[in-house]
Amino acid sequence: MHSRDSCQDSDVTDPLGGLRDLFRLPRGVIYLDGNSLGPLPVATSDAVAQVVDEQWGHDLITSWNVHDWLRLPQRVGDKIARVIGAGPGEIVVADSTSINLYKVLMTAVAINRRDARRTEIVSERSNFPTDLYIAASVAAANGLTLRLVDLDRDAGLVPAADVVDDRTAVLLLTQVDYRTGRLLDITSISAEARAAGALTVWDLAHSAGVAPIGLGEADFAVGCGYKFLNGGPGAPAFVWMHPRHASAATQPLHGWLGHEAPFEFSTDYRPAPGIAGFQVGTPPILSLVALECGVDTVLAAEPLGGLTALRAKSISLTSLFIELVEPLCVDHGLHVITPRDPAHRGSQVSLTHDEGAYAIVQALIERGVIGDFRAPDVARFGFSPLYTRFVDVWDAVARLADVLDTGEWRDPRFAVRTAVT
Ligand SMILES: Cc1ncc(COP(=O)(O)O)c(C=O)c1O
Repeated sequence: MHSRDSCQDSDVTDPLGGLRDLFRLPRGVIYLDGNSLGPLPVATSDAVAQVVDEQWGHDLITSWNVHDWLRLPQRVGDKIARVIGAGPGEIVVADSTSINLYKVLMTAVAINRRDARRTEIVSERSNFPTDLYIAASVAAANGLTLRLVDLDRDAGLVPAADVVDDRTAVLLLTQVDYRTGRLLDITSISAEARAAGALTVWDLAHSAGVAPIGLGEADFAVGCGYKFLNGGPGAPAFVWMHPRHASAATQPLHGWLGHEAPFEFSTDYRPAPGIAGFQVGTPPILSLVALECGVDTVLAAEPLGGLTALRAKSISLTSLFIELVEPLCVDHGLHVITPRDPAHRGSQVSLTHDEGAYAIVQALIERGVIGDFRAPDVARFGFSPLYTRFVDVWDAVARLADVLDTGEWRDPRFAVRTAVT
């Protein structure tokens, strides 16, 4: 049986508890939206200010050489590689997740279209919209079909044999479902897809930084910098390619910084080998500096057990939330739509409500508990193990109970839709 005191005790003995000091969190706010925008690391403001004042402000354009700005996409990529279990030199930071999806899907299709039977891209109907839009555009550009499948909402172990066959060129999936928080097993699905001759592309937007990924036989992966990697609003994204494709793959957006020798200024494009060729234009240095500070907050867990310890705490937090919220479900028409089995759950818990969840989320935000809403009816709560305390989970559920018991969420002001939900 949990109590507020027992939650506080868990915080005192939590080996990761000190990592919270790496963040600047507003007093009185319980932040459960790091799955959407990670909070500001303490180190970021000074790091960005220093690059602005001392590098850009003083060293001007010489900074590209003096401060090795051109290598930042790879340097930060190597740090993200430590977070997601990839090797050095396998990741580059560039562009947005959407653009990287376009690049890797086009590349994967080009590799597998050598087999004329492979005429489709397969994805999940409930995948994040940008994944589906980009997949549809890549399918159209290549004369392929986009086939959407419905996977079991509760099962993390999806037999790839059920979704791919010898028509499949590429299987595109997101490891943690943005609505339900369901987590897929990349290692087993990718191995089975590979055995069936399909290439796999993974979107790690909601898993990088909070769960061991297990890339295994996967072919390509992309992910966001601004969610659990705490890189700041609009942080650049990352892209990974299995080293077996390093010499064969060329992505389709040929920009000068994906060229083998950009400062030759030659007329013809020669792709840089490996993942470096997934760069297109000039890297956003200030955003990369902020992203590096964010990734460093995750790497700060390395001496404390790293991703294994972060994952263990994430599971404890989400399990506690589910356990505490369950009595409210019975009394107030709430439903937990996230898998109960922690092995199939990312670092978020999602609820629906019989009368819609939007107003409940808004009422909670007014009470200092920040989650978010995803249409049509999902309230999402993300639990970053870097800074969320067990007592935060207790207090968040207590405030949710108040919002429901008093019926205050029914006030019309909470129904007013904002542009970003
Ligand atoms: C699963 C997933 N993929 C991609 C994105 C967004 O990609 P982009 O960085 O291009 O905006 C999101 C944004 O929330 C997401 O949840």
